[in-house]
Order: sequence, then C-alpha cells, then structure tokens
Amino acid sequence: MAVLGVDFGTSNSAVGICVDGAARLIPIESGATTLPTAVFLDFEARRAIYGSPANAALIAGDEGRYMRALKSLLGTSLMRERRTFLNESVDFITIVGRFLTELKSRAERATGLEFDTALSGRPVLFHSADPKRNAQALVDLTDCYHAAGFKDVTFMPEPEAAALANRSVLHPGDLGLVVDIGGGTSDFTLFRQGPDSGIDILASHGVRLGGTDFDRALNLAFVMPELGMGSAIRHAFGEQTHVAPNAIFHELATWQKIPFLYTHETRRAARELAQYAVDPAPLNRLVQVLEQEVGHDIAFAVETAKIAANMQTSALPDIDLGMIEKGLCAPLYPVAMTATLAQMAERVGEAASDTMTQAGVDPDAVDRLIFVGGSSLMQVIEAALTRRFARAQVHRGAALTAIVEGLALATGQSDR
Ligand SMILES: Nc1ncnc2c1ncn2[C@@H]1O[C@H](COP(=O)(O)OP(=O)(O)OP(=O)(O)O)[C@@H](O)[C@H]1O
Ligand SMILES: [Mg+2]
Repeated sequence: MAVLGVDFGTSNSAVGICVDGAARLIPIESGATTLPTAVFLDFEARRAIYGSPANAALIAGDEGRYMRALKSLLGTSLMRERRTFLNESVDFITIVGRFLTELKSRAERATGLEFDTALSGRPVLFHSADPKRNAQALVDLTDCYHAAGFKDVTFMPEPEAAALANRSVLHPGDLGLVVDIGGGTSDFTLFRQGPDSGIDILASHGVRLGGTDFDRALNLAFVMPELGMGSAIRHAFGEQTHVAPNAIFHELATWQKIPFLYTHETRRAARELAQYAVDPAPLNRLVQVLEQEVGHDIAFAVETAKIAANMQTSALPDIDLGMIEKGLCAPLYPVAMTATLAQMAERVGEAASDTMTQAGVDPDAVDRLIFVGGSSLMQVIEAALTRRFARAQVHRGAALTAIVEGLALATGQSDR
C-alpha cells in the first residue's frame, strides 16, 4: 500500500507521492497540483462541490452553503457541533473528512494506486496561545483522516517538510530558516544542511497568524465601518446611545466563522441594531449582507485587494463592494494596509526570533531565509523578517507546493 503525502492547508491543499526518491505532485484539479480548501454544499444539485468549482459556485450566487478555512476550526468546540445540511445532520469532522476523502479518491484515480496511509503536514502549533486547544486540534485532524477512510495517519510539521524540499539550496554546514507564512499559521524550522543530502533540524516553532488574519484585520479596518461597525445605537428609552457591539462584525470578517452567522437570531439582532441606529443606513447594509449571505463575497473582495495592493499592480486597489451596493468600494492604499498589518507582522517576526532562542543560535548565524507559503509574498512580512536576519540571503521556495513536495519526499524515507 502506498503512502499519500497530504498538505491540508487553510487556503490550499495538495497531495504527492515519492517515486524513485523524487517527489511527484499529483494533479488534483484540472491538471493543477493545488486546489482551494473550499466546500460548497449545493442546495439545488443536493451535493458537495470541492475546490475551485466551490469558489465559482459562491461567486455565481448559487443557492447553497460555502465554507473555507475549515482548518482553523480544528481544536475548537465548533468541530463537534452538529448542523443539518441537505437533510443530513453532520459535524465538521465529517465535513473535513469528506474533503480529505475527495483528495484521496482523486489521488487514487490519478495514480491507479490505493492509499490507506497518509503522511499529513501539520502546523507546529495549531493554537499557539492555548496548549489544550492545540492538542485537541491534532486529535480532531486525526479523526478527520480516519473518517476519510485512511487506516493510518502520521504527521510532520509543515516547515520541516519545506526544509526537506529546499535542502539543496544550502551548502553543507549552512544554516537555513524556513519561513512558511500560510493562510492560518506562520511556521518556522531552523536546520543545518548535512554533508550528504540529510538535514539536521535544530528547532521548529509557530504562531497562529496567517493570511486569513490579515484579511480579517483589513476587513475590520476598511469594510465593516461601512456596515455600521462603531455606529451609535439609541437606547430603547431615553436619549442615550451606545456603540454597536463588535462581535457580529468580527465574525463576519473571519473566514471560518461566516457560515455560522446565517441564522435567524443573528439576522434579528442586526435588524434590531438598524432599527435603533442613529444613522440606520450602514446597519441596513449589514442586514442585507446577512440576508443575502454575501459575507464570503466580501472576504474574497478583501483578499483580492490585499494581493493587488501588495503587488502594487494597480494605481489604487479598491475593495470592490458591488455585492452590497452598486458602485460601493473602499480604497485600500498600500501604506494604510502596511500600517494595519504592522503589529501582526511584528508578531510573525517575534515568532521567528523565538525559534532562534529555542535553538540557542544567533540570528546572524543564519545563511538563508527560505520563504514559502502564499503570505510570505506579503512585503510587510518580508520586511519584518529580513530586518531580524541581516546576514541571511533570501531564497524563495515554491510558495504553494514546497510543503507537499517535502511530505512526498518523506513518504519515501524508511526511517520516518
Ligand atoms: N501574491 C500574494 N500576495 C499576498 N498574499 C498572497 C498572495 N498569494 C496568496 N496569498 C495569501 O496566501 C494565503 C494562502 O497561502 P497558502 O496556500 O500557503 O496557505 P495554506 O497552506 O493553505 O495555509 P496554512 O499553511 O496556514 O494552513 C492566503 O491568505 C492568500 O490570501
Ligand atoms: Mg501551508
């Protein structure tokens, strides 16, 4: 039985195997080797759709329930809560399990092999601020693999897989620091290149911060005020006012929480806020967003503008809020984005420094910083890291496939 290397990412997933000592990534979606970690439960066709077609169904406004960033739910109580979709009561262990089943069966179809064992990546820390949740997340993910039909699953820290995939960029004896900034977490591995092709791992560390958190911060700063965040709400009696409670806006700006907002209670709460608002217009937009279920469309608009502002591909990347109101948009100036994300970038930088402290190695001893993960393309992140490792040269690994490449290689190593 062959072993399948699986990178189950917050934003993107990929699978691979080892053939004659080399990593082979498996085409998983119309020839591509990665697919978005997204599920769309299509209410009309009464079936689940995965990956890019799930994103397309959401954008097309098809009737159904969309989910993304499911990995961020691991270790939280939401994983075991049951919901009814398509007349079936399921928990999120089952939903993630079915996503993994899809990866497994697509890999089996593409290779003609059968996989009953997985070597899965894992963040160094799923929950960096809560050891109990962190341990629970691994239990949850293990249960998801079993639900998917894998008899056996072992785990490898994602940045250690990336170190393996990028070992040839170092000379023997050199020190490399993998910096893997993904959708949900930032992960680091400090390693020394051995005399042959082996690597010596000195420390791995991580923090629960990634691209989806950047999206949330930008959404809260630039979009949610348009929906009434911070608005004055009149008391039912008297002249006094209070500020609209923040919780609903926070959840609406958080990828993995959005599906949980589409309930009668939340819609009623929003209508009540609009009714007592000093200026009801922004809160009426909130009501409309919840009724039309366009929270994910907003999150996508924020993510698109984030990438455009970061790449500086257009003079003024706007967050296009046309799904709320024709012509509505929020400008996202690159300087404003950098300022909004500065604190988070610092926390990512601190986690990299903590990795060095754990290993007892001076940052100036690092020869190479190896950047992988989609969010390593963020300039504000690169700046926060290169500043701390003045002597290191930057190497850019494959942003979206370095982890799965390393996992695929590791499935071929007998001493795993
Ligand atoms: N060009 C870009 N500039 C900035 N950010 C980008 C770019 N391309 C992708 N991203 C961001 O990268 C993130 C996805 O990266 P990646 O696929 O490495 O994450 P992941 O592996 O799914 O997540 P994790 O490893 O944390 O579970 C998203 O938040 C996305 O917005
Ligand atoms: Mg990743």
